[in-house]
This record gives sequence, structure tokens and C-alpha cells, in this order.
Amino acid sequence: MKKTVIAFFALLAMIQARADEGMWLPALISQRITDMQAKGFRLGAEDIYSVNQASLKDAVVLFGGGCTGELVSDEGLLFTNHHCGYGYIQKHSSVEHDYLKDGFWAMNRSEELPNPGLSVRFLERMEDVTAQVLKGYEPGMDEEERAALVMENSKALREAAVKDGGGLKASVEALFYGNQYFLFVFREYTDVRLVGAPPSSIGKFGGETDNWMWPRHTGDFSIFRVYAGKDNMPAEYSEENVPYKPKKSLKISLAGVKEGDFTFVYGCPGSTREYVHSAEVDYVANVSDPEKIALRTTRLDIMKKYMSQSQAVRIQYSSKFAGVANAWKKWQGEAKGIRKMNTVAEKQKFEKEFEAWAKGTGYEGITDTLAELYKARNPLYRALEYYNETVRSIEKLQMSSGRPVSLKDYYQPIDEETFTAMMTAFDKGLDDCYKPDYFLKSRERFGSMEQWKDAVFADTLEAKKLSRSLNEFYTENLVPKVSSYNRRINLANRTYMKAQMAFRQDKTFYPDANLTLRVAYGHVSGYSPADGVSYNPVSTLTGIIEKDNPDIFDYNIPQTLRDIYARGGYEDQPVCFLATNHTSGGNSGSPVLNADGNLIGINFDRVWEGTMSDYVFDPDFCRNISIDVRYILFIIKEIGHADYLLDEMAFVR
Ligand code: ARG
Ligand code: GLU
Repeated sequence: MKKTVIAFFALLAMIQARADEGMWLPALISQRITDMQAKGFRLGAEDIYSVNQASLKDAVVLFGGGCTGELVSDEGLLFTNHHCGYGYIQKHSSVEHDYLKDGFWAMNRSEELPNPGLSVRFLERMEDVTAQVLKGYEPGMDEEERAALVMENSKALREAAVKDGGGLKASVEALFYGNQYFLFVFREYTDVRLVGAPPSSIGKFGGETDNWMWPRHTGDFSIFRVYAGKDNMPAEYSEENVPYKPKKSLKISLAGVKEGDFTFVYGCPGSTREYVHSAEVDYVANVSDPEKIALRTTRLDIMKKYMSQSQAVRIQYSSKFAGVANAWKKWQGEAKGIRKMNTVAEKQKFEKEFEAWAKGTGYEGITDTLAELYKARNPLYRALEYYNETVRSIEKLQMSSGRPVSLKDYYQPIDEETFTAMMTAFDKGLDDCYKPDYFLKSRERFGSMEQWKDAVFADTLEAKKLSRSLNEFYTENLVPKVSSYNRRINLANRTYMKAQMAFRQDKTFYPDANLTLRVAYGHVSGYSPADGVSYNPVSTLTGIIEKDNPDIFDYNIPQTLRDIYARGGYEDQPVCFLATNHTSGGNSGSPVLNADGNLIGINFDRVWEGTMSDYVFDPDFCRNISIDVRYILFIIKEIGHADYLLDEMAFVR
């Protein structure tokens, strides 16, 4: 008896925890609303997404094509991450005004800075268009014919959706590998101005050292304002433009967060692969991630060596270093997490059960088909990935093939050492069948990598010939082959996905992320990363002071912040918090909302032990990291002295 009771509660706990997994389509959120409400949400489905009334979706934007942002005032004020605004802040920076280093605060509207090329997209509506997209489809059509049909039908749908102009943009997106299609109609605003950004010592506090980690103390936010024509419609930048009046802006909660509080993240995750065959996960965790990690370790070590010797080089390479280090660290958590969860074996077990069920149905054998496709594709794909991580990381070869490299940020000794290391790795790591003739002949001719390197860096023609031969070999040979396999894998995945849904009718499936708007809900929660270690879900200013060290670049905070802390009373000032929301790259800048739909934070990261959530979600380890909105207010006031911005926001307790 006792055993059954325990088993029952264990199961219940498991189901409840598991249910924090998922990135749901806002238009279909009514399917989840009972569960959300059971977990504490106090609003309804129409408050999240509605085409008839203003709803939370009207306060969320796709920011600059790869991040999320949210409207926080009726005058177009927008929050996103510092790392999402980084490129724009950088463009406005110069030696005289180093806004990255010192921060930037517009003290009135006329000081706000325009950003050509930056746009934000508001979702007008999303709708299931599967029938229209597949109109004319006949069983037996091959993937090429089907793709052409889908493209043609989608084009017609998109054109019809944007015919009224007014900044309308449309896209048709495949969900569940093309078992379902959704039309997304956006309104795009292109006059978006920079309003405020903290100094990098706050906005990037902890740098690469703390990236993907907890405890975290990064003030990763920046502030923009969306402008519109006098009719509130999208307009090209003009001094005549006025702040955009959103249909909905978020209220800011001052109530704070604590363990167990309901949270939901409303934003645009980029890419996940939750339903793929074990062979793909096996390749990622046991081949791709470890190899790419090792290659990047070498590159990072080279950069680090020169960056630590010279302040000038550190500035030149900090952005490149961050780019290389970001995925490098994420992959480490991903590979480790997949192994720890035993995902490959779990999936193999599932595939067996699935095939037993599928016997005699049209789905029989689909997992074998996939296994064979991966087996044939993987060596080619591995070569392509290897090439990308080695040869294409050499800036000299990039320049020679005409790709722009900023000479302002170029330091040749780093590139030379990278050349030697990466060309050697490329040569050792791949069979000769993956190398063009010119490469093989040059290897012979120069005898050693050192001599080869000297020749390439001394002679532009030599560099050109080498990069061209490699480029051609890979783009003309390998890329089409890999693409062809990927198309077939996608086709097989369409069948497998449909079959999984038929096999597991008890389960509610959410489509893999594809940068479309999603809702992920969960709760504020710490975690235990290892035996004997337990993390609180909130961090405070005290932790910043503990990490503060003028000698370590990543931890050198502005003197003002030290002074404020010394005044006393700020020990418990909240900074960041952890929750169980299922997020991914692209969710950066996403609003984190409480049970009443009010803003409590901005999402900006995950913990590295949970980054396998792009393949498999573990409720024990998968945590998203957000900046507490009260820290943003604190920085605006105490560091930016831009209190006037608070006047246009609406606060709730
Ligand atoms: N890890 C976060 C993301 O994947 C933040 C990256 C930017 N910050 C950094 N320190 N590199 O985008
Ligand atoms: N920093 C990521 C981004 O830029 C979010 C972190 C993640 O991958 O979850 O989107």
C-alpha cells in the first residue's frame, strides 16, 4: 500500500515537473490554459493571444531578426538585452563617446539615436494554413515537387496577407516538419532608436566567465524606442516621426519573485530538435559537439594568449572571442546533458517500442530509414562542420575570398597561429578525399605547415588560390550532397513526426522552435548542479560586490556602483533569477511575466547544465536566466540618472 502511494506521488511529481517543458503556439494556447491556470496563471487564453482585442502578444516583438523585445510604455519604449543591442551601441561608439564602455543615456527624446537597418516586428495574427499550402498536393509527389508546390502556394498566401501595405510582412512556416503550416502576419517598424544602455561592466558583467552560468549578476538589458508616422503606422526614419502607441504595453511588477512563483516567457526561440531520431542526437553529443569544442578550445587559447598581453588586442578581439566562446560553452553543457540523460539509449528504446506499434501500418520501418540516412549523411556532414570550424575560422583566407574582415579588429599574429593550428587540424581530422587537389599538392610542395603559412601570409595570390580551391570544393561538392540528404531526412522526419503523434496520443506535442512566437511557462526555481551543491533562484547586488575585482576585466564594476553599495541599504537589491521555462537562442530579450501577466524580468540565458533542452528537457537541470526588472529600474535611476523614463512606465505591486 505504502509503496503504491509513494509511486503515485512520484509519478505525479514527475508529470508536473515534466509539464514545464514546451514552447507553445500562442494562437493554440487555449489547449494549455487549464494547465497554466492550475499552476498559478490568473489570466485567460484571450489575454495571451487575441485577434479581436489587445492582448499580451501586441507588446512582444521580434527584435532585429534574432532576439525578442517588449513594449513597456504607451510611448513606444522597448526593453531587450544588452547583447541584443550590442551591435547598435557599438556603431554609435567612438573614441570620444565609448557607449559600450561608459553606457549611453538619452536625457530627452531628441537625444535618442536612430539605427538604420534595425527593425521590430509585431505579430498581427497567425493562422493555420495547412490546407491552402498543400492545395494541389497528390500522394506520390516527390519532395522536390512538393517543395515547389508549397513555395508557390505560400507565396500567394503571403502576397494576399500583405496587400494592404502599411509595413505588413508575412511568412509561412512549417511546423512539425511540414505536417502543419502557419501563416504569420507582422507589422514591421523600421524607426527604432537607442534610448539607453548600461556600461558593459554592468551589461556584460561576468563576461565569458559567467556566461551560461549561475550564480549570475549580468545587467543584460538595453532600451530602445519605436517610432511611427503621425498615423501610428510604420514609417522610415524622419524627425517628424512620433513615438509609436502600442495596442498593449506591459505593466511592470514591483512585487518581486520567489521560489515557486509562476512565470512565463513570451518570445521567439530559434531552433530546437526534440523529436529527432537517436542517430542525430548520437552524432551531436558524441561527434559534433566534442570535436567542435576541441577545435574552439585551441582557437580560444590562441586569442586569450595575445589578448592577455595587450589591451589593444583585447579590445580588437573581445567581440570575436565572445562569439566563439558562446557556442563552445553551450555545446559542453549540451553534450554532457545528453549523455547524463542517456538520451541516445532512451530514444533507441522508444524507437523499438514505436516500431513494434508501427508494424503493418504505413509507418513501419521509418526509424530504419532515418538511421540509414544519418549513417550515409554523417561523414559528409562531419567534414562540412570540420571545414567550417577550421579553414573558415582563418581570417586571412576569409579576406582572400572577398568576405569582409574589419582590419581595425585584425591582429595578424593571432591569425597566423590560428592558420597553423586549424590547417593542421583540418588535415589530420579528415581523410584526403575531403580535400581539393590544390590542397594536397600544396601540402606536398611546402613540406611543413610553417612554410605553408609563411607563403600564404606573404603572398596574396597564394592565399587566394588556397581559399578558392577549398571554397569551391566545399560549396560545389559537399554542400549540395549534405543538403540533398537533409531534404530526405526532413521528408522522413515528417512521416516520423506524424507517426509519433499517432503513437502517443496521450501526449500533447509542441512544434520545434523556428523563431516563431511561443509561450513557455514554468516557475521560479533553483537547482542542484552537482551532489552537495544547491543553488538559490535569486541573486543580489551583494553577489556583484563579492565578485568585484578591479584587476579582472570581467568583474571590474563602475566606481559609482561600489559607492552606492557602500551607502548601505542595497544589500538585497535583486539582480537575476532562475526559472524552469523552456527557452532557446532567440529568447534573448523575451519578457518574463508573472501570474497576472506583468513584467518581472527579461530572459537572457540558460544554465549550461541545461542546454541539452534543445534536444531533451530535464526538469532537474533546465533553467532559464533572467534579469530582475527591479535591477533594470535601479540601474536606470542610480547609474543612468534617467529617472524621467520611469515616468512613462506603469507599475503594479
Ligand atoms: N549565452 C547567451 C546567449 O546565448 C548570451 C550571449 C552573449 N553574452 C556573452 N557573454 N557572450 O546568447
Ligand atoms: N542568449 C541567448 C540568445 O541570445 C539565449 C540563451 C539561450 O540559448 O537560451 O538568444
